[in-house]
Amino acid sequence: MAIDVQANKDRFCEILRRTGRAGVETVLAELDQLGFFSAPASTRFHLAEEGGLCQHSLNVYDEAMLVKVLQCRLRPNLEPKLDDVSVAVAALLHDVCKAEVYKTEIKHRKVNGKWEDYLGYVPDYSALPLGHGEKSVIRLLRWGFELTDEEMMAIRWHMHAWSLSDSPEDGANFNKANERCPLLAVLIAADGLAAHILETH
Ligand SMILES: [Fe+2]
Ligand SMILES: [Fe+2]
Repeated sequence: MAIDVQANKDRFCEILRRTGRAGVETVLAELDQLGFFSAPASTRFHLAEEGGLCQHSLNVYDEAMLVKVLQCRLRPNLEPKLDDVSVAVAALLHDVCKAEVYKTEIKHRKVNGKWEDYLGYVPDYSALPLGHGEKSVIRLLRWGFELTDEEMMAIRWHMHAWSLSDSPEDGANFNKANERCPLLAVLIAADGLAAHILETH
């Protein structure tokens, strides 16, 4: 299904504004300037097309809200740690690190035995090479956006095993964040469900 870039941008802005967080207008302006709303979600894995990154962020939001409701049904004591504002902030903003990373490039592929050119994406991390989740957190704080400790932990570690180096300190930090922060497990689940269910089937 074709992505409606403008409709997604409007929905993203509306949900983020509803959080009432300080710095929200700066975040929206900076994301717009970086090309977040037209960027792809990846080079070739999921939603590698115009508007894919915003669509993915909305998909993660939709999944996260469902996961939150189900978890709170099973564990009502989680409700205060999974409020709607934190779920929206973590889901919509977890991948702002990717806003300017994917550049277009002419690539070649063989279709029915014949080579053809097509416009593809390649990553370029040179603008702000700080990593993935950590780049999203740093970027948001620099833009004056208010984040709770739980939101920072969730965004920082949302790539779980994929962002862990061999450093035992990384593993210990990730485990501690998981213990303290159910929002992290919700975001990891929602990110996976979005990429492997909503964006694949
Ligand atoms: Fe990510
Ligand atoms: Fe993601």
